[in-house]
Amino acid sequence: MADKLQATMVLDKNYQISEVDRRIYGSFIEHLGRAVYGGIYEPGHPEADEQGFRKDVIELVKELQVPIVRYPGGNMVSAYNWEDGVGPKEKRPKRLELAWRTIEPNEIGTNEFADWAKKVQADVMMAVNLGTRGIDAARNLVEYTNHPSGTYWSDLRREHGYEQPHSIKTWCLGNEMDGPWQVGQKTAAEYGKIAKETGKAMKLVDPSIELVACGSSNTDMPTFPEYEATTLDIAYDEVDYISLHQYYGNSSNDPANYLAKNMDMDHFIKTVTSTCDYIKAKHRSKKTINLSFDEWNVWYHSREQDEKLDPWTVAPPQLEDVYNFEDALLVGSMLITLLRHADRVKMACMAQLVNVIAPIMTENNGQSWKQTIYYPYLHASVYGRGISLQPILSSPKYDSKDFTDVPYIDSAAVYNEQEQMLTVFLVNKHLEEAIPLEVDVRSFEGYELQEHIVLEHHDLKAVNTKDTARVTPHNNGESSLEDGRLKIHLNKTSWNVIRLRKAK
Ligand code: AHR
Repeated sequence: MADKLQATMVLDKNYQISEVDRRIYGSFIEHLGRAVYGGIYEPGHPEADEQGFRKDVIELVKELQVPIVRYPGGNMVSAYNWEDGVGPKEKRPKRLELAWRTIEPNEIGTNEFADWAKKVQADVMMAVNLGTRGIDAARNLVEYTNHPSGTYWSDLRREHGYEQPHSIKTWCLGNEMDGPWQVGQKTAAEYGKIAKETGKAMKLVDPSIELVACGSSNTDMPTFPEYEATTLDIAYDEVDYISLHQYYGNSSNDPANYLAKNMDMDHFIKTVTSTCDYIKAKHRSKKTINLSFDEWNVWYHSREQDEKLDPWTVAPPQLEDVYNFEDALLVGSMLITLLRHADRVKMACMAQLVNVIAPIMTENNGQSWKQTIYYPYLHASVYGRGISLQPILSSPKYDSKDFTDVPYIDSAAVYNEQEQMLTVFLVNKHLEEAIPLEVDVRSFEGYELQEHIVLEHHDLKAVNTKDTARVTPHNNGESSLEDGRLKIHLNKTSWNVIRLRKAK
């Protein structure tokens, strides 16, 4: 008979990884598909506000407490002229959008997006075009958005109705410049040089900004991780973060292997961290480059149907993945991975936010709803603020097609000292069995169990649609706390959030 599955863990308030940078709960809106047009913006919709932004979507984004949103791309930014999107709307040109082969009407641009970001209480992470453009367009954009007044570009912004600068702090130097799909793809040496010079000029305009350099588009790129090393070798002094992107899928329908894929994410983060530190050592630098995981998610459901879409239309339904329950589990595990690297991952963006590979879906002229992946993102963003603790976990393991020694249980814990709360995030990846977990939380003396939230479903392929929310969390998780021992029953294939609060 097989041994009974069980797991143990120690959580101590002194085993600290790092303060969690709230920006790891960022997201992304690209001018792509129905993210902007029909997603955040739909004038004429019954929920549209005076600027045409959908209030139902604003409310859902606010519920997620998204701290920062990357904009306007993505692949789209590599052939984008930001000047097309400012000034009187009736004068803005319609353009061929080359990355996604659509028509871009430019009804939304920098100023409107900054307005929307304010409405959802998020900061903007702005990307500049280093595909077809370069230093000049980028430094002009920083002058337009961030300089108070008295110069050509800042006064133009004021003429456009924005007296106060937007003061955008975080800037991406291009997007996925290693990718052959990118307009203006560059070798690492070419990219390093343009990133360095563009970054230098942008910081001359506004020294308070922070810059993110592109790394590899994913771990399968043949130039990974040399691309990161060469780029940083050239641009080390000018940039502050290096970007990571990664999407996973389950096209071979192998759930055990699929749910293990955050191990690849973990490896990716460790490799990029080491690469940054190697270049730091090489430069005898005191500065540390941190990581911006500014595109991450599941993306595969919509790929086939996207190939059938006609080109050159406005806001076609591109990348509209309908997420199922197992996707939510992997997203939960990816969030756990980010938390466990809170010492180096300082920003991350779930890609994307509305309609396009997104937690939030909308129907044109209709309702909005929450996909399955909305929930782990919500729980991590709302409860995962504080100090990321190092769980000492002993979990049974399994092997899958691509991975060995996959712990059935993934865990991260966040201690919010101010609110005197401890939140534990756990995924049980076992496809058949519940696993009991006993956690030693004796260092949290006087704490009591507040709630145990669970996201689970008997069907891994269950989805939420506009009419039916099949996958939603409940608060009836089985756990108990006695004498510093937290006993948790982790149902098979489940996402769990356990919250302890200091008793009054
Ligand atoms: O998020 C969708 C696309 O994925 C982005 O435009 C690009 O950067 C990445 O390849």
